[in-house]
Amino acid sequence: MQLYVDRFNKDLKGLEEKLPYLQNLGVNFLHLMPITTRPKGANDGGYAVNSYINVDKRFGSKTDLLRLAENMHQKKMYLMLDFVVNHTSDEFPWAKKAAAGDEKYQSYYYTYVDRMIPDEFEKSLPEVFPQSSPGNFTFNKDMNKWVMTVFNDYQWDLNYSNPEVFMEMLRYLVLLVNMGVDMVRFDALAFLWKKIGTVSQNLPEAHVLISLFRLCLQTIAPGVVLLAEAIVAPMDVLKYFGQGVTSGNECEVAYNATLMALLWNSVATKKTLLLYKNLRNLPSKPEDGTWINYVRCHDDIGLGFDDRYIYEVGWDAAGHRRFLLDYFAQKLDWSPSIGQIFMYNPTTGDGRITGSAASLLGLEKGLKTQNDKLVNEAIDKIVLLHGIILSYGGIPMIYAGDELGTINDYSYLNEKDKRSDSRWLNRPHHNWQATEAINNKGSIPGIIFNRIKSLIEIRKTRAVFADQIPPVLYEPNNSHVFVFERKSNSDKNILVACNFDEKDQLIDGSWIEALGYVQKSRLKDLVSGSQIKMNSGLLNIKPYQILWLESY
Ligand code: GLC
Repeated sequence: MQLYVDRFNKDLKGLEEKLPYLQNLGVNFLHLMPITTRPKGANDGGYAVNSYINVDKRFGSKTDLLRLAENMHQKKMYLMLDFVVNHTSDEFPWAKKAAAGDEKYQSYYYTYVDRMIPDEFEKSLPEVFPQSSPGNFTFNKDMNKWVMTVFNDYQWDLNYSNPEVFMEMLRYLVLLVNMGVDMVRFDALAFLWKKIGTVSQNLPEAHVLISLFRLCLQTIAPGVVLLAEAIVAPMDVLKYFGQGVTSGNECEVAYNATLMALLWNSVATKKTLLLYKNLRNLPSKPEDGTWINYVRCHDDIGLGFDDRYIYEVGWDAAGHRRFLLDYFAQKLDWSPSIGQIFMYNPTTGDGRITGSAASLLGLEKGLKTQNDKLVNEAIDKIVLLHGIILSYGGIPMIYAGDELGTINDYSYLNEKDKRSDSRWLNRPHHNWQATEAINNKGSIPGIIFNRIKSLIEIRKTRAVFADQIPPVLYEPNNSHVFVFERKSNSDKNILVACNFDEKDQLIDGSWIEALGYVQKSRLKDLVSGSQIKMNSGLLNIKPYQILWLESY
């Protein structure tokens, strides 16, 4: 589970108290959002770091962190923290010295006396936050120089062409893992190397640097696992597992942002065409690496699908993206979704989507309009998407609050430093009142919590869900349905079948029978714990239903 410590239960001690809640759900791995010191005002949720190792007072102390790590390890839970490897805040000691005129530290960042080089860079650099932080350079008055700031203007990009930067950052990485961290999230690692004339993402030199971090860490903390936070094109993501000379020597884990975005595409279109098209064309990842599969996280949902595939399934790429933005961001009356557009760029027409899973799936609208049908459909969709990430192969990650169907949090609009960043819509405070309702199986949070909990429980009893053999895709003749099989050498196979449509969908059952999943026209579904009957050789999948079929 990914969570904000302060928003979950006040501070590190508060989180420690609530470990039993997480254990009850079945969670055994926590990604804590940044907890180190950061600027008082805007700080990108702590991703503008004032320190890599000092715990910010609001979360507690280093002793609290060490105790939490120890307690988690006793409970057989893993801990992941961020390593914001690409940039520091403008208040980081190096940045302060640079601003005061120290040339040594100015060379830790990309600093320029005039616009000549920045202008050359800008010709090919895309903008990450075009609305709130346009451009990639910021003028610093104290220093009287321009500094590269690819993310927000208060996040200074580190200059790895200066080898001292690597050495210093390696030292921080070592100190970080020394605090009991099991997995390190390499934040924004695709941006590590910059080169005029390129987009300065995924450059070969970035891979060399990551590999160098990996190799150094290997000698002193070989048990630590690295996660690539590379939200880039599918082909580029795979490179972070290591390819060619860095093969096996970069990150062991990467976010499966492709699957995540495709699932949202299937929610809006109620079709699985683009999902299959992309998954089928994705080269397989190395055997010794795995994915983090997720439905939502603290960031936006990008629509970076390959235009070619959109055309191949028969849609116009620009029109299709427009439709997705309209569907999720309240531009279509009939859409159940209440989300917002994030960082719309009028020149390119690109935009991303933000909002909580529950609100994007219709729960907020259903509750507001007292529409029980919408509410029940939203609940089924929440379970459907979680059922997929729990069975697809890899590490399933639940975003804190989604286990209760938490809707959008609009309170960020009252906070000056957050107002321009609508990602805060989906960074809610944990609703402990709703949590009390989890024993009430009839309440909405209770239903969602217990259905997800049950999926996790089943997953834990089946070795087939481990990421040993890649999922096998099947395409039955029905564009609303997504079917894949999980195979195992030591366990029974499982066939996952889901319906993204609001109506029942039928698929031919003969091939399912041929795979050995059927007995006397009956199928065993682990999700509902019941027998499913096939009529006239057809399998009926209910609206937004997910089936985990196990052979007899
Ligand atoms: C990562 C984080 C995101 C942050 C960015 C810059 O993408 O997930 O929240 O804004 O890095 O640090």
